[in-house]
Amino acid sequence: MRTPLFISVFSAAAVACFAGPAFTVDAGKSAGQVSPLFAGLMTEEINHSYDGGLYAELVQNRAFLDNDKSPAHWSAVSDENSAARIALDFTNVFNDKLTASLRVEVAKADKKNPAGVANDGYWGIPVQPNTKYAPTILARADEKFSGPLTVAIVSDDGKTIFASEKISGLATGWKQFSVTLKTGKVQPTSHARLVILLDQPGTIWLGMVSLFPPTWGNQPNGFRKDLMQMMVDMKPNFLRFPGGNYVEGDTVETRFEWKNTIGPIEQRHGHPCPWGYRSSDGLGLLEFLRWCEDMNAEPLLAVYAGYSLKGVRVKAGPDLEPFVQDALDEIEYITGDTSTKWGAQRAKDGHPAPFKLRYVEIGNEDWFDKEFTYDARYTQFYDAIKAKHPQLKLISTIGYDQPEKNRVHSRKPDMMDEHYYQSTDEFARKSPGYAKDYDRNGPEVFVGEWAAHEFSPPRPWEEGSKKFAPTPSLKAAIGDALFMSAMERNSDLIKMQCYAPLFVNVNPGARQWRPDLIGYDAISAYGSPSYYAIKMFNENLGDEILSATPAATPVQGSATRDSGTGDVFIKLINPQATDETVTLEITGAKSLAGAAEMTTLSGSPEDTNSLNRPRNIVPVMTTLRGIKPRLTLTLPANSFVILKLATRS
Ligand code: AHR
Repeated sequence: MRTPLFISVFSAAAVACFAGPAFTVDAGKSAGQVSPLFAGLMTEEINHSYDGGLYAELVQNRAFLDNDKSPAHWSAVSDENSAARIALDFTNVFNDKLTASLRVEVAKADKKNPAGVANDGYWGIPVQPNTKYAPTILARADEKFSGPLTVAIVSDDGKTIFASEKISGLATGWKQFSVTLKTGKVQPTSHARLVILLDQPGTIWLGMVSLFPPTWGNQPNGFRKDLMQMMVDMKPNFLRFPGGNYVEGDTVETRFEWKNTIGPIEQRHGHPCPWGYRSSDGLGLLEFLRWCEDMNAEPLLAVYAGYSLKGVRVKAGPDLEPFVQDALDEIEYITGDTSTKWGAQRAKDGHPAPFKLRYVEIGNEDWFDKEFTYDARYTQFYDAIKAKHPQLKLISTIGYDQPEKNRVHSRKPDMMDEHYYQSTDEFARKSPGYAKDYDRNGPEVFVGEWAAHEFSPPRPWEEGSKKFAPTPSLKAAIGDALFMSAMERNSDLIKMQCYAPLFVNVNPGARQWRPDLIGYDAISAYGSPSYYAIKMFNENLGDEILSATPAATPVQGSATRDSGTGDVFIKLINPQATDETVTLEITGAKSLAGAAEMTTLSGSPEDTNSLNRPRNIVPVMTTLRGIKPRLTLTLPANSFVILKLATRS
């Protein structure tokens, strides 16, 4: 990767200059407040974000509900001296939520030649050295078999046993079994499976098989540690959940029905998600809230608003009432004390303390509803929620990016959500004028989904995008930086913003959308150049907007200040294929330190990160010396540069 001209890895010198039009930053006065909630994350179940992603469960199809024709991801295990067969069973089931079980019939086996069943995980079971894994198994047996069972993590070829334990005490009634599997000094691999084996003939039924590695904060039913760390490092202020399309579902029946996602995991049936696979609902409402808590971020809750993706709409009025009540119950679950019905349920689920909630979004992208029923639906939710929770700010999903006539008019939304998936060139054109003409007395603005893609076509949702890498290259990160600086210049009004989608499992067949911010497989993860661009922004946010006037060059940017420390943050983006020398003028600062911290993300447009080269494109920090109120700086081609200057005004 390249660093700006005039600098060495350790220091750099700026050049005093008195000619040419300047990129001017007025450090003398604040031009508005940067919203304290400006930087957030957006999430939904897409690209195996939760199952096979953040949710640390390692067994795919743990409840045998993913496919009602065959036990997907499960296979019989036997050798030439043993025999086993497996089948779905819809009669012998654990309860009315786990409506299938796996019947494992072993006709021939002995201690040397055990037989049974294996699960291949989410593109492998990740094995780490000296690590404890926690399997939980719901099982019963026929009257002739009482165990023991062997539970083990083994290599794909069955030759290496990474960890193994025995389970005994099987009976004809359902029982839950938990053991600890501990690995020794092994090489990390994801070429492994979970097996459950019998060493004598017999028939057993499995109602659910779960396997967790160590989780973030050792939370039961918890999150993958590496992905949590990457998000915490981004310093997000809020988390928008659970969608996106995921909140809507393809149909009313397959919406995100939060009441089905709480309580013990064996009480969660799961549901088909609109991205073509089934969600276990293991990551449910309380897990979303814990996720916020773990990141020290606020929840931004999206509630189902009566519109689903296949064009189904619930008519405003009595038909919509149950959905409004459902949203009120959900808000009570999140914020109610334990004297309330749903607050008490949350306490029973393990979290007595209420969560802070300030923003609720009514639906998702309701401009897709070409019968224009959103105004009436929003109004019904608005009136009911405001009557009980007047302090909550209610977000309309139709914003300034949609024609005026399609927006909500019956009530004044507290906030409007805009979505932008655009190419870097489109963002370069859009950003200079973005939000300039928005009504400063109108609703606040939330940019609830945005991301730059490198070229157009293909758009992220188009078939053609499948031939590109799942995560973006530097070219897209430059587009992201251009748009972020536009939002930051307007962050008196753009109160919150979040990139989407956040996650992608990069295994073949796992994704539905590109580009995505963070990529992973079963065992490792990496941040895209866009991840680092956002992280750079969030680490240098400040709380006051400074007026920044660009010179007539392709370089765009923004500036802010931290009112506590006096530090000024100047963000400059050069989207061109050639270096660009800019004159930078800083006015209004009583004092300016002679050296600045400079962080640079640059390279060739096609440069990117991947599982194999996770840190190919990362920010480089240097010191820029010779800072003067007016100086020249040469920005490398395709670069995003942040200067952090110590000042007093
Ligand atoms: O981020 C992917 C999808 O894009 C979201 O689910 C939806 O809201 C938007 O159309």
